[in-house]
Amino acid sequence: MTGTRDYQDWHRRYDDPRSGLSWRLRRVRRHLHGALDERAGDRRVLSVCAGDGRDVLGVLAERADADRVSAVLLELHPELAQRARDAADAAGLAHVEVRAVDAGTVQAYAGAAPADVVVLVGIFGNIADADVWRVIGVAPQLCRPGAAVLWSRGRRFSRELPGVTAGDLNDEVRARFADAGFEEQAYETHDGGGRPAVGVVRYAGPAVDLRPAPAPLFTFVR
Ligand SMILES: C[S@@+](CC[C@H](N)C(=O)[O-])C[C@H]1O[C@@H](n2cnc3c(N)ncnc32)[C@H](O)[C@@H]1O
Repeated sequence: MTGTRDYQDWHRRYDDPRSGLSWRLRRVRRHLHGALDERAGDRRVLSVCAGDGRDVLGVLAERADADRVSAVLLELHPELAQRARDAADAAGLAHVEVRAVDAGTVQAYAGAAPADVVVLVGIFGNIADADVWRVIGVAPQLCRPGAAVLWSRGRRFSRELPGVTAGDLNDEVRARFADAGFEEQAYETHDGGGRPAVGVVRYAGPAVDLRPAPAPLFTFVR
């Protein structure tokens, strides 16, 4: 994680219920509940760059039907991954696997994709625009037909980062999802800190096999 933020410290922003991040978490949880409500039977959730997993795990912990849901969380930071494992254990969630892996590599997804609900939250503002487009291009490979993808990107950045649009890129993000075969189900914004935004799209295309990639899917730049 050299050169990127201290992501354990970053999670402290969730302590303030008025933070933009807390707004985002509430919206993501709401949409996760909605996505699971709409999808009966055994379902698979995949969370990429999951942090301590409080979005997916918080939702599963609230659901009486959590047993029908299996979840794989991919998180690079081993201590955050362990926190997620501990939270899953504490909530009695039997079907959660937390992998301490680089989600920029396709191997990290083996057996976890395709999924019915894919969480790409807290990624797009931390990688170069070109990597955002690459992840959206690969997203069909992560999805079963009809899958929901939750994504986020803030619309204001405190500093310039190489290759990263510092302001609102989301019209293009939404258009790129549409080009990749996704239908928009929700798009919400908040004008608090960082001007966060959350989108939900549904994969309307056919099944696509996970393919080896010659280069990393993405690399965090902060
Ligand atoms: C902005 S946080 C978002 C965490 C979580 N999705 C959330 O919204 O609370 C980004 C997370 O991605 C993790 N991360 C960064 N690069 C990664 C990579 N290549 N593979 C997996 N996780 C990565 C960081 O350690 C951090 O926990």
